Amino acid sequence: MHAPPPEGFRYLAGYFDPAAQRALVEAVRGIVKEAPLYRPSMPRTGQKLTVRMTNCGALGWVSDVTGYRYQPLHPVTGGPWPAMPQALTDLWAEVSDFPHPPEACLVNYYAPDARLGLHVDADEGEKRAPVVSVSLGDTAVFRLGGLSRRDPTRSMRLVSGDVVVLGGTARLAYHGVDRILPGTSTLLKEPGRINLTMRR
Ligand code: SIN
Ligand code: MN
Repeated sequence: MHAPPPEGFRYLAGYFDPAAQRALVEAVRGIVKEAPLYRPSMPRTGQKLTVRMTNCGALGWVSDVTGYRYQPLHPVTGGPWPAMPQALTDLWAEVSDFPHPPEACLVNYYAPDARLGLHVDADEGEKRAPVVSVSLGDTAVFRLGGLSRRDPTRSMRLVSGDVVVLGGTARLAYHGVDRILPGTSTLLKEPGRINLTMRR
């Protein structure tokens, strides 16, 4: 038997219907045109992540050899991040239980062989605000642990249209993406997955 997930973890299956998912993908295409996806480097080692990233909103999460941070400009183009789509600020208003809008939305693109190691979202100034995540395209095998890297983890499948909220205790829980299951969705033109995470 698996232990229950940490308090404040919410899994909203099928939050976005197929039409809303298509509209979000269109919005992401517009964002990527203005602020292209790039492969960030890990601090210290300089090793490239397998996930490609960009952002929308006032601030964007970036990583390079000097560390992780939020900044108002795209590290490659030097331009500001595109505006956050209304559907995402509406989602935040509905599920965040937080009185202020999100400041940043990280756009992750997983090609079929991309993955994201277990980590905590720790670079945000406001830990009382949750992280709200949207899955689009192929299913992800998502892993959720506890507050310590050594805590037991559980695996769950995030399907296109699903929303996950990491709030309360779960806000600082370890999580990651073990792998993508290519061919599980026809939403995107090619196999892969988009994940959008809003933060403050
Ligand atoms: C993240 O932790 O930044 C992304 C999680 C996900 O892709 O579901
Ligand atoms: Mn994360």
